[in-house]
Amino acid sequence: MKILFAASEIYPLIKTGGLADVSGALPVALRNKGHEIKLIMPAYQGILEKVAPIKQTINLGNPFGVGDLLLLETHIPENGTPIWLLQCQALYERNGGPYLDQDGIDFQDNHIRFAALSWATARLALHGHLINWQADILHLNDWQTGFAAAYLESWKVKHIPVVTTVHNLRYNGSFDMDQFADMQLSPELLSLHGMEFYGRFSGLKSGLVFADAITTVSPTYAKEILTSEYGDGLDGTLRAHQDKLVGILNGVDYDQWSPEKDALIPLNYGLDTLHQKNHNKLALLEENALSEDIQQPVFGVISRLTEQKGLDLVLEAMPELIEKGARLVVLGSGDKHLEAGYLALQERYPAQVSVRIGYFEDYSHRIQAGIDALIIPSRFEPCGLTQLYALKYGTLPVVRQTGGLADTVFEDGDRANGFVFKEANSNDLSAALLRCMTCFYDTQSWQAKQINAMQYDYSWEAVTGQWVDLYQSLLNR
Ligand code: ADP
Ligand code: GLC
Repeated sequence: MKILFAASEIYPLIKTGGLADVSGALPVALRNKGHEIKLIMPAYQGILEKVAPIKQTINLGNPFGVGDLLLLETHIPENGTPIWLLQCQALYERNGGPYLDQDGIDFQDNHIRFAALSWATARLALHGHLINWQADILHLNDWQTGFAAAYLESWKVKHIPVVTTVHNLRYNGSFDMDQFADMQLSPELLSLHGMEFYGRFSGLKSGLVFADAITTVSPTYAKEILTSEYGDGLDGTLRAHQDKLVGILNGVDYDQWSPEKDALIPLNYGLDTLHQKNHNKLALLEENALSEDIQQPVFGVISRLTEQKGLDLVLEAMPELIEKGARLVVLGSGDKHLEAGYLALQERYPAQVSVRIGYFEDYSHRIQAGIDALIIPSRFEPCGLTQLYALKYGTLPVVRQTGGLADTVFEDGDRANGFVFKEANSNDLSAALLRCMTCFYDTQSWQAKQINAMQYDYSWEAVTGQWVDLYQSLLNR
């Protein structure tokens, strides 16, 4: 099968979260199964330095009046995956991240930036002759590429099956109606059953209503988003399209994330050499000038600091554990209030708490290898990848029972691989953290859980079959 896969971030070219990990790894897994994939993503500032030399350039013209949209053909050097980069200086060559400026504020023209990406994606999907390659399936991801489904609908020539994957319903990519004129889309699409969203228009809703199949990144989240509690205003839409919704769990790229192979950690280890994990623990403590008592647990957080992740609860729950001797290593950035809260905790317990604000890929690997337990108290979690990485490193996750966390982490019975709590409050989190700490002191049961955790196979290979079946079912229609 030939699949055109569109995303706004793709590892290792650019990453702000799990979407990049997925867009970097699922296509590789599908290629390994013999399918042809081409990626499309904007040529953000600095991206051209990370890809192979450009093979050809196609000029798509200037549909948005902000300059020509150029498609550059290249591939990702690390894994050979073909990618088309959409170049437009006025839209993508600027400081900051893919969505936010240097001060963390949304770019004011994001609707045009991702309309252009979506428009180019839809063009490529329809007009294979442009690139000498006709896709069988168009796979969209989140709101940034969801508008592509709207372009296909508005051109009234749609004859390629479209799959939209929801990685996070909270980011619905909705904009003021007075910006709709910039979109080059037919106002006919703005109905209640179309892309209208509470008096605005939405990229994600476009991707949902105009797709042939909707997927999300875990079976539990697929059920949760049908309820008003988790639906973020789109639950009604999702219920209306429920027959085309399916949850497929994300996988892990174990070439990047396993303690046996990881080149970014001080000492490799595996099931047979689990004692060597302690070397990584000591190195992490030393790196952060924390007290080096190996008999006490080290907890960690690696996360975007947003409401979603529930990390305000850790600030409430952690002092009690720190007083008992635990330590905490935090890597994250986002909400200024939370950043300040964690920095204050570090100031209060300088020998037991280390906080690094920012985004550091390499450091996140050293944390996974060096800590004993990873805390993920999310209010909602479509899939979550850090708990999957943690398991492989024999680092036990402490998670709230929601979304992909509920599908992958278990506290009891044969499959026990971590600690789970139900309600998003600091009491429930505290209790789980204390259970975790008690278990840590009981070396035998701790190691049994670690060994269980490390044996889980959450690889992409384990789920690519579900993707192939889904694509195939759309082609058979
Ligand atoms: P989300 O996509 O909601 O942020 P995921 O758990 O799916 O959550 O994926 C997060 C990804 O981003 C993981 O690869 C994690 O290691 C990484 N990550 C998050 N915050 C940081 C950070 N501050 N520095 C480095 N990596 C981070
Ligand atoms: C989103 C979700 C996260 C998921 C990731 C990749 O960012 O918040 O739970 O793992 O996308 O699908």
